[in-house]
Amino acid sequence: MQDLLADETKRKACGMTQRMLRALQCAPVDRPPVWLMRQAGRCLPEYRALKEKYSFQQLLRTPELAAEVTLQPVRRFKFDAAIIFSDILVVPEALGQGFSFRDTGGVEMDHVVRDRNDVRRLNTQGIADRLQYVAAAIQGVKSELDSGTALLGFAGSPWTLANFMLEGGSARAQTKALQLFRSDRALFDSLSEELTLAVIEFLKMQIAAGVDAIQIFDSLGGLLPVEDFEEASGQWMRTIIAALEGKVPVIVYSKGSRDWTSLVQTGAQAIGIDHEIDLGEAAQKVPGGVAVQGNLAPELLAGADPRLVAAEASRLLELMRGRDGYIFNLGHGVPADAKMENLEALVSTVQNFA
Ligand code: CP3
Repeated sequence: MQDLLADETKRKACGMTQRMLRALQCAPVDRPPVWLMRQAGRCLPEYRALKEKYSFQQLLRTPELAAEVTLQPVRRFKFDAAIIFSDILVVPEALGQGFSFRDTGGVEMDHVVRDRNDVRRLNTQGIADRLQYVAAAIQGVKSELDSGTALLGFAGSPWTLANFMLEGGSARAQTKALQLFRSDRALFDSLSEELTLAVIEFLKMQIAAGVDAIQIFDSLGGLLPVEDFEEASGQWMRTIIAALEGKVPVIVYSKGSRDWTSLVQTGAQAIGIDHEIDLGEAAQKVPGGVAVQGNLAPELLAGADPRLVAAEASRLLELMRGRDGYIFNLGHGVPADAKMENLEALVSTVQNFA
């Protein structure tokens, strides 16, 4: 009887929600959980079909549609986690700096944040009200999601958001935020502080709406020299994570950052690893008790064939074998031209890993 109960506990523990959440807690799992950054949208035919009828903004702001786009990749690939379909730029938008897409690719903010007055004009009051549509989408997903699948919320890091706001959108070379950090620390800090408060309120709202874990996208972390990372990005993420009081686990994905001390000190339960570094080497920098997520090169999904993708996925799985707290992911987002057969090869390699 005791044995039966133990088996039952193990079986339940390795059920799917627990697989993602247990890996985040660095607890043993039957196999690593898998989900992919930017799995919602972009390359899926069923997403493209919706895009024929609705604009990105309509999909984002209509909770039923955002929930549908969130669920599409989970239905197709049985990922261990869903990530809510939204964008990091909804926070600047809620602060009063809207965004749109350029025909040539990339995003454009409706104005540029240049000086103290522009920062003062950002409206942090009632930000959760203006982002209520994200909470509604989360609730919609929760009601349909298999209890076996974790739901991830997310936000951009203050540093990454500041870059888009100060550049006025995507830029070939992102230089303005680092310039401001060096030339007017007081103004840089007050912008980062406003963004930190906004992100805290946004993430608390997502937690209240039902997300199981959070990922902070510090996608432009690698623009910072190691010696500036803590001051310009790390400390703000640490403040955000502390304010969430451990209510849900947090993954920090800081693309290109190599200040491991600062990354670990954020208090994140997991560190996302990009594909510019060897996963084994990165994992050694992350202490036991903190989970590791990553890092298959996204280009392989577009350029390689299923055999190569499977071989690379197996290599990463073997590298992490025996490490409690490993989450399979890419080193960055799914490319728009990823091939379905490559995604299938990746997912089935992880799901069949024993
Ligand atoms: O991970 C997911 O699937 C959830 C949805 C999600 C989107 N954006 C949807 C989206 C997430 C987590 C993001 C994060 C995001 N948005 C980041 C950080 C992650 C990263 O990739 O570095 C950044 C920098 C943005 C800002 C952004 N959004 C840009 C620069 C662009 C235009 C260029 C591009 O990447 O396509 C977007 C558009 C965007 N966000 C799309 C999607 C599905 C593409 C629009 C479309 O296909 O209609």
